[in-house]
Parts: sequence; C-alpha cells; structure tokens
Amino acid sequence: MSPTSLTVFLSLLIFYLFFISSFTYARLDPTPNTERFINSLNLFPDHDVSIVNDDSSINNASRLVEKRFKFPSLPNSKPSIEDLGHCADYYRLPHTIGARMFYFFFESRNNETDPVVLWLSGGPGASSNIALFCENGPFHITEDSSLVWNDYGWDKVSNIIYVDQPIGTGFSYSIDDTDIRHNLVDVTNDLYNFLQDFFDKHPKLVQNDFFITGQSFAGHYAPALASRINQENKANPKIHINLKGIAIGNGLTNPRLQYEILPYYARRCKLIEEEDYLHIKNTMLPKCMKATEDCDMGNETDCLIAFDSCDGMFGEILRRTNNINYYDYRKQRNGRMNYDFSHLENFLNNQLVKDALGVPDIPFVTLSSKVYEAMKGEYMKNYDTGIPALLADGIKVLLYVGEFDVICNYVGNLKWVIEMAWHGKEEFLKPQSLVSFSIDGIEMGALRSHGPLSFLEVHGAGHMVPMDQPKTALHMIQRWMHGDLR
Ligand SMILES: *[C@@H]1O[C@H](CO)[C@@H](O)[C@H](O)[C@H]1NC(C)=O
Ligand SMILES: *[C@@H]1O[C@H](CO)[C@@H](O)[C@H](O)[C@H]1NC(C)=O
Ligand SMILES: *[C@@H]1O[C@H](CO)[C@@H](O)[C@H](O)[C@H]1NC(C)=O
Repeated sequence: MSPTSLTVFLSLLIFYLFFISSFTYARLDPTPNTERFINSLNLFPDHDVSIVNDDSSINNASRLVEKRFKFPSLPNSKPSIEDLGHCADYYRLPHTIGARMFYFFFESRNNETDPVVLWLSGGPGASSNIALFCENGPFHITEDSSLVWNDYGWDKVSNIIYVDQPIGTGFSYSIDDTDIRHNLVDVTNDLYNFLQDFFDKHPKLVQNDFFITGQSFAGHYAPALASRINQENKANPKIHINLKGIAIGNGLTNPRLQYEILPYYARRCKLIEEEDYLHIKNTMLPKCMKATEDCDMGNETDCLIAFDSCDGMFGEILRRTNNINYYDYRKQRNGRMNYDFSHLENFLNNQLVKDALGVPDIPFVTLSSKVYEAMKGEYMKNYDTGIPALLADGIKVLLYVGEFDVICNYVGNLKWVIEMAWHGKEEFLKPQSLVSFSIDGIEMGALRSHGPLSFLEVHGAGHMVPMDQPKTALHMIQRWMHGDLR
C-alpha cells in the first residue's frame, strides 16, 4: 500500500473505531483457556510451577549472584562464545519466603555504552526464554536442539536482560507456594527490586539509557513497571534508573477496547462467516463488555467474570474459524498447536544445559498454568491509564504490532491508542503523522507518530514480530532507541 492509500485506509478505520457502539446483555458458558494456551505451543508440562523443598541454595548473604556460562552444545562458530559477555543466574527476591528469579544477561555485541534493554515475555507465565531462543536473542535454537547465531539479535544494539517472571515461570522458583504473585503491584515490586540490585552490580551501566520491552501480556507489565520506576525516580531512589521508554509488541493493554474489536476483526479478515459474526456480536460480546466495563470501574469480581466471558467469546470465534493459528492467521494450527516450542523445552531441560547455567534440579517451565491462573484477576484490567503521565514526562512509548495476529491485533491496539487522552493526541491523529516505514527503500510497515508516541503496524508478521520479521524488528528498536524511527 502506498502512504496515500494507507492514510485513507487508516482514516476510515479511525472513523469506524470511533463509532463502534455497545450492545445489550446476554448469557454464555465460560470456557477456561489455560489448557488451550499451553497446548497451543505444543507444551505438555509435567510440572506447571517449580516449588522446591530444599532451601540450601536460598539463604545467601548476596542477593544477586552472576555466573558466566558456556552452552555445552553451542557449535564452535565465530565469534566464539567467549567473546560474548553473557551471564545467567538467580536473584534472591526480597519480601518472599524463598523465591529466586532467573535471568539471562547479554552484553552488547557492539559497545557497552549501548542502551540497557529489559525484555518481558507475556502469558502471564510465559518464560522470556521463548523470546531469547526463538525471537530476538543472540542465538536461536534449531529443530535438532543446537544453537546458531542470530544475525538480528537485539544484543547487537543493546545490553539485554531476559527475566523469567513472575515467580514460578521458566527457571524461577520458590520454596513456598505463597510466593506466587497475584497482582501487578507485587510483580512490579519484584522487577523493581531486581533492577536496583542489577544496576548496583553493574555500575558502569547505570548511566546508559534504559528501555523496557516485551510482548503480549507485557502490554500490562511494561506500563505498570515504567510508572513504578518513574515514581521512584522522583522520590530519590538508591539508584536512579535511566528510563527512556517502553516498547510493546502485539500487547494486551486495554482489554475492553481490544476484545470489543475481536469479532469485527475476525469478520473483516474473513476468518468467520457473517452469520457467525452477528451471532457472536449479539449474544457474547455484550456480556464480555458489561463485565469489562465494571472491571474498569474497579470491581475485582467483575474482572474475573470478564476474563471468563471474554475468553469464552474468543474461544467461540476460534471454533468458527478454519482452525487458524490465532497468533498468525496466514497459518493453520497443527491440531491445537499454534507453534511448536517443544525443542526449546527439551533443550532447557537437558541436565548439561542446566548445569552450565547453574540451575538446580528443577524442571524448566516454559509456560506456567499456575502463574497464569494466579494472575487471572489482572488479565482484563486496563493498563493504558498510566501512559499519558509517562508521555508527559517525555518517556517514549512504542507500540509495534504484527498485522496478522488475531488475539492482540493491530486494529484493537490502534483503537485504544487513538482513544487515549494525552497531550499530543490531536497532532497524533492528523494524516501527516502517518508515514511508511522502510528499510533499504522497501516498505516494512506503517508508522504513525507524534512526539514520544509511536505506533508501527508491521507487515508480514504475526504476534511474534522479532521471529517473523527479525530484520525489521532490529532496525525498528535501534532507530527508536536513538530517536530516529522515521
Ligand atoms: C553464595 O554466593 C557466593 C557468591 O557470592 C557463592 O560463592 C556461594 O557458593 C553461594 N552459596 C550458596 C550456598 O549458594
Ligand atoms: C563506544 O561508544 C562510545 C560513545 O559513543 C565511543 O566513545 C567509543 O569509542 C565506543 N567504543 C567502541 C569500542 O567502539
Ligand atoms: C461487583 O460485581 C459483583 C458481580 O457482578 C457484584 O455481585 C458485586 O455486588 C459488585 N461489587 C460492588 C462493590 O459493586
């Protein structure tokens, strides 16, 4: 599409989005989606959370210990693995009975003065190692569980940290069930404490620019953590965290507006028939909207009701499609599986790999159903409310959205961005704020931006943009961090 036809298209879309109305109330039977979510990635975990009985490794005076590691099966490629500053280890979480948060840290392949980037995968309960090994990490895992260099790893332009969080996700574990987190206040406390100790351990990085990035449910995590850091920075913290921006890929940020779009979007992309669309819109959407509105007003019970009814609606949309991959509707699912991450799970469950990383004898939990269930009450809450204050303080916000995703599609994301009240809203909505995003003269996306806010619709990508369009994702993040995204 040329920039002009894009402008016309997006203007029409904006017009449409403003005039979507609400509907009347109806009944439906909820369908829990945890199992669908996990099986959709071809994961069949024996354990869905790591609680260990042995606490001998827990009580250590030092809260943050880092260990250099070398993967046993990494081929002898150049540059050698020793050239890459890379650490993995556990952070002993304060304010828990005995929780340890696992993380990877990779120094920039380019220059240690590059920005520090924190990556957060979604779920809630999905390990950030999914991104590390299948999206934007320094190396990728192959089908036969060996590693190859990723030419488009974000460690080429940043010092990047991948955290397994909330507790119970990935290699993070606790000695006590009660350390499992149920809300974003506790989750952001944990991340904030981790960052304080991380920068304490890496004083050379304190002056670098700092960015929070992530995907999917990170549409909740990133604004919440950024607001927390921004407030602490104003209150004279031990270490000032040099927060410059947040970037969210295919995020879930304002569930009410995003779920409202889902039936319409499925119909517009011809994934369901007109008759199915009308049925879902008239019988299921109203209950989902009613409960989400009440959730937005602060009723916690309604947040749980909203989760069940909105998720039930999404399940119904899926049942009426031709078994599409709901992260990328160009593709079909293989049975119930969107993507196959079983090789990642096998690799990280290999004892040699665990030994190299300093992980005790616990399973790797790629996606924790227990963490997911525990965070259900947060799922439908709106997290765009803190963003205008961040923008007012000059903290940049980038929303980038792969155009073929269904669940966190770009239309729903655009809807909340358009409706959000912030100081640059009027300019942001003007046609001249929309340009084509190109790499080497080839259009790779459509970019709308004004001041600190940018919205990039990425061509040729689904839910996982750095996996589908690695070159675009790397150019995007580099240009954005340096203030020249256009
Ligand atoms: C505690 O941390 C130190 C490094 O600070 C490490 O050498 C030691 O092995 C750790 N002890 C335990 C019990 O994990
Ligand atoms: C790293 O970047 C700094 C600041 O731009 C520059 O002064 C320095 O020469 C760079 N170092 C290397 C090894 O390129
Ligand atoms: C919250 O919502 C529930 C279920 O809809 C309702 O029973 C309850 O009265 C509401 N609570 C408040 C304080 O409005």
